[in-house]
Amino acid sequence: MKKNFKRTLVTAALPYANGPVHIGHLAGCYLPADIYVRYLRSAGKDVRFICGSDEHGVPITIKAKKEGVTPQAVVDKYHSMMKSAFEGFGISFDIYSRTSSKTHHETASGFFKQMYEKGSFTEQVTEQYFDEQASQFLADRYIMGTCPKCSNPDAYGDQCERCGSSLSPTELINPRSTLSGAKPVLRQTKNWFLPLDKLQPKIKAYLDQHSDWKPNVYGQCKSWLESGDGLQPRAMTRDLDWGVPVPVKGGEGKVLYVWFDAPIGYISASKELLPENWEDYWKSDDSRLIHFIGKDNIVFHCIIFPAMLMEHGGFVLPDNVPANEFLNLEGEKISTSRNWAVWLHEYLFDFKDKQDSLRYALCANAPESKDNDFTWKEFQTRHNSELVAIFGNFVNRSLVLTHKFYSGIVPSANTYTKHDLLVLEELTAAPDKIAKALEEFKFREALTEWMNVARLGNKYLADSEPWKLIKQDEERVKTIMNISLQICCNLAILAEPFIPFTSAKLFGLLNLSPLRWVSAKQSNNLAQGHSIHKDELLFSKIEDAEIQVQLDKLSAVKAARQNTGVKPVKQETSFDDFSKMDIRVATILSAELVPKTDKLMKLQLDTGFDKRTVVSGIAQWYKPENIVGQKVCLLANLAPRKIKGIESQGMILMAENQDGELSFVLPSKENIQNGADVK
Ligand code: MF3
Ligand code: ZN
Repeated sequence: MKKNFKRTLVTAALPYANGPVHIGHLAGCYLPADIYVRYLRSAGKDVRFICGSDEHGVPITIKAKKEGVTPQAVVDKYHSMMKSAFEGFGISFDIYSRTSSKTHHETASGFFKQMYEKGSFTEQVTEQYFDEQASQFLADRYIMGTCPKCSNPDAYGDQCERCGSSLSPTELINPRSTLSGAKPVLRQTKNWFLPLDKLQPKIKAYLDQHSDWKPNVYGQCKSWLESGDGLQPRAMTRDLDWGVPVPVKGGEGKVLYVWFDAPIGYISASKELLPENWEDYWKSDDSRLIHFIGKDNIVFHCIIFPAMLMEHGGFVLPDNVPANEFLNLEGEKISTSRNWAVWLHEYLFDFKDKQDSLRYALCANAPESKDNDFTWKEFQTRHNSELVAIFGNFVNRSLVLTHKFYSGIVPSANTYTKHDLLVLEELTAAPDKIAKALEEFKFREALTEWMNVARLGNKYLADSEPWKLIKQDEERVKTIMNISLQICCNLAILAEPFIPFTSAKLFGLLNLSPLRWVSAKQSNNLAQGHSIHKDELLFSKIEDAEIQVQLDKLSAVKAARQNTGVKPVKQETSFDDFSKMDIRVATILSAELVPKTDKLMKLQLDTGFDKRTVVSGIAQWYKPENIVGQKVCLLANLAPRKIKGIESQGMILMAENQDGELSFVLPSKENIQNGADVK
């Protein structure tokens, strides 16, 4: 970490404006960032908190196409949805901007130009798929075809969602354009690349200075540098029409790569927030830049963006990138497309005024060092057994007794006992403990330390029993109640980063304006004679019925999934097209696993007219020794292709169930011979 810094700029990843935000977003990035910033503010530090919508990129244009609207309409809709969801949860950005803003277009464009003029890019002509019917180049996501690894017919140009392999579009078998359905053709196109291979030594030196980063982050960076041939040049421009236009000659019809423009969004938003002095935060050595992100963004923030900043020159580099792992929901990966999520706007609707309960539960269970699971039951328990039963209960008892004994006037502390002094010592040590954890990005630990203060208060009241003592020793009870109220007050101060709504409510009940972090190092924030407001419960319990509503919602999503488990019928085809396929019955003569893969099997087939080799992605579903002699159906006139160095001459027909399990399609009678036609 930078020593002696004067200011901190905190950013949270700019979310894609192609869908609403869910608990995974909140837990992974926005909540920890907000806690961190609120703490720094309370500690009197100079800090700014930057975010906004990432409004470019192919997922947005695909969404627009699907919904039959313009990309601008898509981003307008989700930008305002996300903005208000964040506000609803008290995520206290100093600015929430968007990358379609004029300032951003100018900033990103200027940034590219400067790098271009310095000669930071290399020009490369590559072959890209082009859709002649739609007359445009196709981004990876616009191309579908058969996965060469598992034969999934609906793999994307960049990834097969069935087997998880990452692909490049030219690897797909029978590629098709998702725009027109046409078979795309390869065309040459020129783009500008960032030569990360040449920059690798500089990037390595930078990362070596940051071995103090979270192990999950540092480890991922290392493996990028060390795997295979190390870093590879990466195209910073794309043949697309949605994005920031490439501002140099020859760039017509191209836009900046979304991962080039988006992080520059942090700079643009800073300019919008601080037109006069944004450079203090970005260009001055005593400024610290911290990026909060999810783990899927690590390479972009730890390698590519720093490389851009280095090449451009004049900017500070990220000082830390505290990325979180992923949050699952009820044991399943959160997924927007599968509608498996708790949407923030829906939570706000269902649990009005309980924003802090979710903030608390998500922080307590944050996926800080490994993926974690969110369950509604645990959420309920966190709320009822911790917030309500420990913290809420302690505060409530303190306020109620103060009204009962002293009509709401803070009593004087008289002589402290040894026990009192121990309690006060622990109380006033808490802010430093919590601060230390927060500064190390250990949010769960920080929250536990905070709850320990509430536990301390609870125990103090239970041990001292002022409700009994009031009849025997009135002076002693004054001291006990004074201490209890001081604990309440310090809890309010220390709660602010985590559960700001409740903190404000508690300050309200105590009839105090919010106090800063340092005040929690003392135990006399409430003066004797100060009058507090009538007690009111901080929280109400969350009932089983409310949780059941949420569980039912998720069950409904699962049920809907089963009903639509059967894929819709594909576009109509002609008999002629079908007849072009030569499908035959064949027998497996031998089978062996393809080394170094876990899906592929090499099969020898007897087709009745020849013997041939076919590589098939069935190793997960069959054992080689069990399928020798098995009859199968073979697409016999499929163009041969090399798979793992083996020439595969055809494709075996498989049926797939909803779990992706494959099974041979076979003739049901014995008297069908090898070479028989399937039609
Ligand atoms: N839009 C990206 C995502 O949601 C994050 C962009 S972060 C930025 O994964 F640095 F590029 F802004
Ligand atoms: Zn696959």
